[in-house]
Amino acid sequence: MNKGKVDVLLGLQWGDEGKGKVVDVLTPKYDVIARFQGGPNAGHTLEFEGQKYVLRSIPSGIFQGGKVNIIGNGVVLAPDLFMQEAKELEKSGHDLRSRLHISKKAHLIMPTHRVLDAAIEASKGKNKVGTTGKGIGPTYTDKVSRNGLRVGDILDGFKEKYEAHKAAHLKQIAALGYTDFDITEVEKTWMEGIEYIFKNFQIVDSEHEINNVLRSGKDILCEGAQGTMLDVDFGSYPFVTSSNTICAGACIGLGIGPNRIGNVYGIMKAYCTRVGAGPFPTELFDETGAKIRDLGHEYGAVTGRERRCGWCDLVQLKYSVMINGVTELIMMKSDVLDTFPVIKACVAYELPDGTQTTELPYELYDAKPIYKEFKGWNVDMTKFTSEDQFPQEFNDYVNFLETYLETPIKIVSIGPDREQTIIRK
Ligand code: GDP
Ligand code: IMO
Ligand code: MG
Repeated sequence: MNKGKVDVLLGLQWGDEGKGKVVDVLTPKYDVIARFQGGPNAGHTLEFEGQKYVLRSIPSGIFQGGKVNIIGNGVVLAPDLFMQEAKELEKSGHDLRSRLHISKKAHLIMPTHRVLDAAIEASKGKNKVGTTGKGIGPTYTDKVSRNGLRVGDILDGFKEKYEAHKAAHLKQIAALGYTDFDITEVEKTWMEGIEYIFKNFQIVDSEHEINNVLRSGKDILCEGAQGTMLDVDFGSYPFVTSSNTICAGACIGLGIGPNRIGNVYGIMKAYCTRVGAGPFPTELFDETGAKIRDLGHEYGAVTGRERRCGWCDLVQLKYSVMINGVTELIMMKSDVLDTFPVIKACVAYELPDGTQTTELPYELYDAKPIYKEFKGWNVDMTKFTSEDQFPQEFNDYVNFLETYLETPIKIVSIGPDREQTIIRK
């Protein structure tokens, strides 16, 4: 009988909700932290002791207390980017070789996957998704079409397998008429990355490791990447990523039975952002949007792109709470709204036929937000240490959100640092 518990932490909006910070805060409560999907399209930021780290493939549990961190089978891994990330962490004094395990079944992002990503985007013209360019879509496409190259392949006859996959990719790239690339240098670093992983890290049967951990009574935290609205099934398709970012993705991406899942932590910003193309009903194009971007430093952790900013969308969030079975909410970046005289939250959509709905429709471009307004609190909350210090106006906002979403907001984040975290009772 499995005795340990599995909790899942994931983003409820369009990514960048602050997942990395919360995983780091919660890590002391768990024995193992595991990533279950996505790859270096993720950029998870953590701040503590005056240092800032951005993690892309390595789980955010790597900094606290010698915990084991697992890159699960559902993840796609770029060896060159992974090597760069791991070496930087080691340089800053964080040894991870013995504590970071990589699933044999995780798929490898090849240099030609990244070229394919660029070629496919270019072929879409104005309909492009605005991907991170990390080869995510083409790698998952190969996985699903049974053409993928996996971490486990490193262990046997790798070079031949690699060349066969590369040749197939080059044909696809030529068919798209894409010529603007040269992978000679990248390929060299990529092969060094393969060597680096092979020599330094444990390549494991992660589904066995994870279930053995549970059997021995230890607890696991699964770290989601991206967000629910970027999920390939339930997000704003086709403007999504190519994996299942939702809670069920943790079962698939790690080999965990659905009945093992306990808490589902839903991470949300006090407002909303999105990078890349696609619908975003509450997006603000005015100075309020610019002010959120400015105060929230809303620029992509991976690509440096401006994030699109808008008000909190409760119709969208309610959908995410439903799809994931969220048991508790964690609200991030509350401090960013500290100076706004009025704060709004979308409580329903008006559709083109004049009707109103609180159920997320099939076509989000048709949704016109209907807002409820709240009085701003106008207090600097960044140095608060307890919920007793929250102003009434802030409590009114939080209480409304909780009631609407029928889910408690258990943690409020008031700044990027690990310490700027308030537990609500
Ligand atoms: P993730 O991808 O979900 O891990 O989120 P990102 O790291 O991409 O983006 C979140 C950004 O907000 C990072 O720069 C964090 O340092 C920062 N951040 C996290 N929590 C807070 C908060 O409560 N307040 C402020 N001002 N910044 C925060
Ligand atoms: P974290 O884990 C925000 C977006 C891209 C693009 C779409 C598809 O840091 O929250 P992809 O490269 O995955 O094929 O791009 O998804 N996207 C993210 N947006 N945060 C992320 O990760 C994202 N990962 C992908 O901008 O719109
Ligand atoms: Mg991010």
